[in-house]
Amino acid sequence: MAKLMKEKKIATPFALLHVASLLSQRTRIQKFAEAINRIVKQGMRVIDIGTGSGVLALLAAQAGASEVTAIDINKESIEYAQLAARMNGFEDRIRFEVKHFEEFIPDEKYDVVICEMLSSMMLIEQQIPASSHAAKHILKPEGVMIPGSLAIYIALTECESAWSRFCIHDLRFPKLPQTIAKEDAKDLSDLAKLASFDLVAVEESRVVECDLNLKVVQKGVVHGLVGLFDAEVYKDIRLIPEDGWRELFLPFDKAIDVDMGDEVRVKLSFIPGQYESLSLSTE
Ligand SMILES: C[S@@+](CC[C@H](N)C(=O)[O-])C[C@H]1O[C@@H](n2cnc3c(N)ncnc32)[C@H](O)[C@@H]1O
Repeated sequence: MAKLMKEKKIATPFALLHVASLLSQRTRIQKFAEAINRIVKQGMRVIDIGTGSGVLALLAAQAGASEVTAIDINKESIEYAQLAARMNGFEDRIRFEVKHFEEFIPDEKYDVVICEMLSSMMLIEQQIPASSHAAKHILKPEGVMIPGSLAIYIALTECESAWSRFCIHDLRFPKLPQTIAKEDAKDLSDLAKLASFDLVAVEESRVVECDLNLKVVQKGVVHGLVGLFDAEVYKDIRLIPEDGWRELFLPFDKAIDVDMGDEVRVKLSFIPGQYESLSLSTE
C-alpha cells in the first residue's frame, strides 16, 4: 500500500479502502454468488461494471465464464482487483479496464451483465444510468442483468444527530444527503414506495417524482426522510437493506414536531445518480 501511494501520489486512497471494506458484506456477496452460480455457464461472456475489489468478476470466473471484462472508473481499485485476479489464477480470463461505464460500448454484446452500484434510494450511486446504458449497449437481447429490478422507498424520520451536524460553533453549512446507520434514526411513518425500476429497460434520465401525504405513526420530531431500497438479484434471490446498506438521510430545512395521526406532505424529485438534481419540500 505504501508503495502504491508513493508511486501513484495518492494522499489517502479512500475509494480503494472503501471498495475493499465492501468485502466484509458477506450476506450481500453470498446472494450475488448464488445468482452468478445459477446463471453463468462455461463459455459465457460476462461483464462486471463498477468492479471495485473485483469480487463479482472473480466469482464469475470461478463459476466458469470463459471471458470476463471488469471495468471501474477508479484506477487504484482496478489495480487492486488485478492483483486479486492474479492471486487466484484468473489473470487470463479477466480483462480489466479503467473506464466510465458510458465510454464502454463493445463490438460484441455480453451474455451476462453484473452491475452493482446500489445505494439507498439510488440518488447518489450510478446504478440506474449504468444499468440503462448496459441494457442499450452491452447486454445481448436474451442476456441476463444482475440485479434485474429494484424498488425504492421513503419514510419520515427523526435523526437529530445527522440533521444538526450542519451547524457547528455557530457556523452553518449547506445541508446534504447523508448515509446513516439504521440505529441512528427513528422512523415516524410507514415506508412509502417511491418508484420501481426494471433494470433491463433503457430509461434515459428518468425523473423520480412524488407528492405524498405521509401519515405519522408515532409522536416525535421529523428531521427529514430516510430512503432505502430492495432489489431482485435473480428470481427468488432478493437484496434487502439488512444485507449491508446504510440508509440515506435527506434533511429537511426545518424540523417538524408531529403527533400520531398527523400528515406531512412531501414533494420530492430527483434524477437517479444525480444528487444535485434533488428537490425536496414539505408542508
Ligand atoms: C458499490 S461499489 C461496488 C464494488 C463491487 N462491485 C462490489 O460488489 O463490492 C461501486 C463501484 O462502482 C464504481 N463506479 C462508480 N461510478 C462509476 C462509473 N461512472 N463508471 C465505472 N465505475 C464506476 C466505483 O468506483 C465502485 O468501485
